[in-house]
Amino acid sequence: AALAPSGSPLLGFKAVPASTADTLVVPEGYQVERLISWGDPLFADVAAFSNRLSDNTAAQQKRQFGDNNDGMSLFPVDEQTAILAVNNEYTNYELMFEHQGKNMSAADVEYAQAAHGVSILTLTQQEKGWRFDINGRFNRRIDANTPMRISGPAQGHKLLKTKADPKGEVALGTFNNCANGMTPWGTYLTCEENFNGYFGTDADLEISSEFARYGIGRKDAGYSWYKFDQRFDLSKEPNEPHRFGWVVEIDPRDPSALPVKRTALGRFKHENAELVIAQDGRVVVYLGDDERGEHIYRFVSRDTYNPTNQDANRNLLDEGELFVAKFNEDGSGEWLSLCHGQNGLTAENGFANQADILIHARQAATFVGATTMDRPEWVAVHPHEPMVFCTLTNNKNRGVADSQPVGGPNPRAENHYGQIVRWVPTAGEHTAKDFQWDLFLMAGNPNLYGGTPYAGSSNITADNMFNSPDGIGFDQAGRLWIQTDGNYSNQGDFVGQGNNQMLCADPKTGEVRRFLTGPVACEITGLAFTPDQKTLFVGVQHPGEKGAPSSFPLGDHTVPRSSVMVISRTDGGVIGT
Ligand code: FEO
Ligand code: CA
Ligand code: CA
Ligand code: CA
Repeated sequence: AALAPSGSPLLGFKAVPASTADTLVVPEGYQVERLISWGDPLFADVAAFSNRLSDNTAAQQKRQFGDNNDGMSLFPVDEQTAILAVNNEYTNYELMFEHQGKNMSAADVEYAQAAHGVSILTLTQQEKGWRFDINGRFNRRIDANTPMRISGPAQGHKLLKTKADPKGEVALGTFNNCANGMTPWGTYLTCEENFNGYFGTDADLEISSEFARYGIGRKDAGYSWYKFDQRFDLSKEPNEPHRFGWVVEIDPRDPSALPVKRTALGRFKHENAELVIAQDGRVVVYLGDDERGEHIYRFVSRDTYNPTNQDANRNLLDEGELFVAKFNEDGSGEWLSLCHGQNGLTAENGFANQADILIHARQAATFVGATTMDRPEWVAVHPHEPMVFCTLTNNKNRGVADSQPVGGPNPRAENHYGQIVRWVPTAGEHTAKDFQWDLFLMAGNPNLYGGTPYAGSSNITADNMFNSPDGIGFDQAGRLWIQTDGNYSNQGDFVGQGNNQMLCADPKTGEVRRFLTGPVACEITGLAFTPDQKTLFVGVQHPGEKGAPSSFPLGDHTVPRSSVMVISRTDGGVIGT
């Protein structure tokens, strides 16, 4: 590939310019096709999505691709077959209903609930490349009503018991599944993020400080589920919110397997779950809690990974120790244990047992002195080196709220641009107590703010600038792929940055190059490579949200629909080289 003399040897493609067009733009020599969109049937006997919105029903949606695809993972099956597990985070009522959500009915709520969760897709290698197989044996929908087992220390805890489930062992559904992870034993991890927005009540209920810390209140986020489905009414089922905010493990190869909520990984607004096997064989999972001033967590399993007997790994995520990160000003950092009895997490201090700590992970993290972060989104571990990256997407409250002082990895007040923090564990061991951190990049706008911290770090230029890094992931060669969920107004602080986009960075040199730009009002989120690194799946989420003018992906004034896209090179080469 042709490279500028100063260019990184890892980055072999020509940068694409910022764009405000209603299309997905990829570099010269690349091609993009649509894999699947919201409402497309997952089974041959299911009706297609209708652009006449009132035609679409809950019964169909339960067997169609869900809405707002987000994180995804690819599981190779054989040379010709793979499984793509995809999160369906939420819905946009303004795009889903002719009444735009202003006149919700029970049937509408049922339809919306069916559009949430996870879609599992069988892919086959076809003449044109990897495509969805509507007759594939792994195809499955998991939605907001699918039964799932509650496992780990909080299973059966009194705060998880409801009228429908007096034992606190089986929850219904998963929703607001943001990002994801995968395990070396072949399972998918889907992470529950803004679950609070689905609960509410019209009763005159006093909201506890425990609920308030998680953003749970009488008013929901506009979904109206509580008005038609009693388990979302806080006055009717006060424990239902405790059954969400978890990481859920799914076996994508067995469409009949119950998903499992792994409570040992803590309850918060989970972003992704980046799993790595430590040198001693224990499983380490890095976890972000995406809210202004919340924290970064790490789970370390008690038992070790068994590479020769995958069945022995099934419950590794049930037993272990949860930690939360403290970043010091001098570039050092440490993991603070959230084990009952450690760091003052005792009954006298309000934490009755380990389950109580996990259910109230945020309060425990504050109690032990965790660092408040600028909205931790995805974490990614370098494939060959003990380097960990986490996107801190933005934080308008930094330096404004007393609990969120400027400093350390959160160096800018009223941070509209975001940054990526990197840490290296002591001795390269992911189970180590300590680490060293630095900022890999700070996004910014050098055209507007040259010479100030809001210009961004030195690797941000007029040609590659963006805001609000969110999805990140490595390919096998160690390229860091960065996706944005930012302000796409192309005005004010964001002028020149255009639509949301995906960039590629060399983690050694720090060079950042824009790889693609998305359509109008979308977020770019979710990435997965085939093992040969020649096909890249990328998610386009909510094009045309809030009435923005988009008809992506089909054009011709059709309803804009979240979609998974397939990117490859016209010469069949490795992506990014
Ligand atoms: Fe669903 Fe934090 O993004
Ligand atoms: Ca995200
Ligand atoms: Ca985000
Ligand atoms: Ca989004």
